[in-house]
Amino acid sequence: MSLFKNLLRPALFHIDAERAHKLSLAALKCGPTMPAASIKDPRLEVDLLGLKFPNPIGIAAGFDKNAEVPDAILRLGFGFSEVGSLTPRPQSGNAKPRVFRLPEDGGIINRMGFNNDGHASALARLQARSSRGGIVGVNIGANKDSDDFIADYEIGLSTFWQVADYFTANISSPNTPGLRDLQAKDALSELLKRLAEKQQQLQQETSLPRPVLVKISPDLSESQMDDIALVLAEYPPDGLIISNTTLARDNLINTENSNQTGGLSGKPLFEKSTIGLAKMRQRVGTELPIIGVGGIDSTETAVQKLQAGANLLQLYTGMVFQGPDLATKINAGLLKHMNRENISHVSQLTGISCDEWASAALSSA
Ligand SMILES: Cc1cc2nc3c(=O)[nH]c(=O)nc-3n(C[C@H](O)[C@H](O)[C@H](O)COP(=O)(O)O)c2cc1C
Repeated sequence: MSLFKNLLRPALFHIDAERAHKLSLAALKCGPTMPAASIKDPRLEVDLLGLKFPNPIGIAAGFDKNAEVPDAILRLGFGFSEVGSLTPRPQSGNAKPRVFRLPEDGGIINRMGFNNDGHASALARLQARSSRGGIVGVNIGANKDSDDFIADYEIGLSTFWQVADYFTANISSPNTPGLRDLQAKDALSELLKRLAEKQQQLQQETSLPRPVLVKISPDLSESQMDDIALVLAEYPPDGLIISNTTLARDNLINTENSNQTGGLSGKPLFEKSTIGLAKMRQRVGTELPIIGVGGIDSTETAVQKLQAGANLLQLYTGMVFQGPDLATKINAGLLKHMNRENISHVSQLTGISCDEWASAALSSA
């Protein structure tokens, strides 16, 4: 009998999704909410981006927008924690309600709109925990009313350089008008060029290396992916995160919320984001680090995402439906899978079914 599924989840699902999330954050802030069940095993450790990840499962951006609980997340057994998206100035986001569960589908639609407390308060929190260790990435975005979106990302790098283990430039949220346009060829060239210059400058000033990844959408066409791959060849970031939420509404069972505006995450995103990942992996080759995210809610989906070409994984919606011990369960499952298949290290799973996944057709956006 699972305490989460029998007691906590029904109680949380009874209240508005954003309120339930706030309660979860409050519970995490109260201290150790779980027995220390983290799995430590050298077969799960991933050396990537100049960092040593204790296991390949991270929390995706959006769960801890304001960097309130990165250490509690790590205590739940996650190998890394990504905070944000953070914009230079605080933003209230879109009108509530703006998060909707699709229980029958295992999905969520959100149109939060980058609500966050802004750089200053998150920086103070990250400075306060900086001696604690553990890998904490900072996901940076742009203020909705900014005159220069790219400048907001540059400010993000400067602000959090000392406290971030890595950065994610989120250019794929569907909830900030115009943001996804940064994925178009010329805009992406300009963004990556300016970020690389800023990264180099900060690295020289501080002697601290900080990888910068770019998070892209699952709603890209093959030709948009071709364009992105061309730009990446000219201005290579340190890695990609694939993917953000989708605007597509394919094959949903739920009728109450499925037409809400916003980005869809969870189970219904799994196939689309995994196909997109494999198609990008084919385009960029085997060397560029890729974090796979979208619909991971079990060992099976984690294995599939790795096999499609991911080096590391992130999840968010899966935890809402499966509970706070999901990372630990997946890590235990990965070890079992590796034992069964005679695989000596998790990195050996990466890309082994890439061609198969990449040959699938992209569904509509
Ligand atoms: C409520 C909610 C808020 C999110 N906010 C952000 C965000 O601020 N920045 C970001 O890059 N992604 C954000 N995401 C997207 C997730 O990081 C992730 O890419 C997406 O949900 C797919 O993963 P999942 O299916 O495991 O949830 C958000 C997702 C949800 C459900």
